[in-house]
Amino acid sequence: TGGVLVDRYGRVARDLRVSLTDKCNLRCTYCMPAEGLPWLAGPELLTDDEVVRLVRVAVLRLGVTEVRFTGGEPLIRPGLARIVAEVAALDPRPTISLTTNGIGLDRLAPALRAAGLDRVNVSLDTLDPARFAELTRRPRLDAVLAGLAGAAAAGITPVKINSVLMRGVNDDEAPALLRFALDHGYELRFIEQMPLDAQHGWDRTTMVTADEILASLAREFDLRTDPAARGSAPAETWLVDGGPARVGVIGSVTRPFCGDCDRTRLTADGQVRACLFATEESDLRGALRAGVDDDGLADRWRRAMWGKRAGHGIDDPTFLQPARPMSAIGG
Ligand code: GTP
Ligand code: 5AD
Ligand code: SF4
Repeated sequence: TGGVLVDRYGRVARDLRVSLTDKCNLRCTYCMPAEGLPWLAGPELLTDDEVVRLVRVAVLRLGVTEVRFTGGEPLIRPGLARIVAEVAALDPRPTISLTTNGIGLDRLAPALRAAGLDRVNVSLDTLDPARFAELTRRPRLDAVLAGLAGAAAAGITPVKINSVLMRGVNDDEAPALLRFALDHGYELRFIEQMPLDAQHGWDRTTMVTADEILASLAREFDLRTDPAARGSAPAETWLVDGGPARVGVIGSVTRPFCGDCDRTRLTADGQVRACLFATEESDLRGALRAGVDDDGLADRWRRAMWGKRAGHGIDDPTFLQPARPMSAIGG
């Protein structure tokens, strides 16, 4: 035993994504139904101390160098700043980032920055208030824009924006979103929609593809290949109008990047997932609460990752969407 999180294909997981809650204060139509979902019960959630303990195992024993907190919506977790501060105190210190819908970020960004948050990615699919209210079922566009500005004002850099385009809903907005990002110094990435919605309504024909996104941007911008190395990043990037500004496309479905995947995931209820699309999970919460020590937890985590499949398998005829929706896995 001992060693990093390596799978049978030789990929090493250095990037840990931790979901801190499955709840959210928005109801994006491509994610969950209007009434919400049967949320995890309080005792099922890892406590703040349990989260920090498992992150410590990942960083000190398993070679994880980047920790990203996600949800649901991680800003609604009361202990977030404390968790960030304790993770930032680890030696070696991992890079700490957050994926959020931005609501409340204007208020929380200074404390999170002070606690050690390095980077933040904010989800924003439209700049039109009515469209935002329709798409998220909550009229909160102003709060998200304030959150973005607050993150930048607090000195968090870069601030990235994630946009999911949907056919007939907001697929006309790619250039406007890019103009907005350029004007404010945010780094924009478009995401192909994946079959991870709670309603199991994903459909290849309504998914806006990476090629379509690029074609729509190319009508208003000059896009050139980015010479910077992509590494294991999901986003492929292009220089906009000669640079240095860039735009990214995360083409999980039509341009999969699983061969370079360096991610491991921990759900809010303490299950390790080797992949977004994993059908199996490994119960670290149960082990932790049964008194298993850090070495034992590390061993279980390694075993869980060894079985990681080569790819997401969305194109296989036998593909089955995982039982857990995106909101309970972490984006
Ligand atoms: P950066 O380090 O800032 O580039 O972050 P990121 O792009 O890895 O993280 P973020 O949480 O912003 O993820 C953006 C989107 O990328 C997610 O919503 C997913 O759609 C997609 N994504 C992230 N991780 C994975 C992954 O492991 N597999 C796949 N297929 N998509 C992923
Ligand atoms: N496919 C792709 N991205 C998704 N997101 C939520 N559901 C999906 C999906 N099915 C995005 C959100 C957010 C990020 C965390 O994940 O829009 O930007
Ligand atoms: Fe990694 Fe799975 Fe995402 Fe592919 S789908 S990049 S294997 S987490």
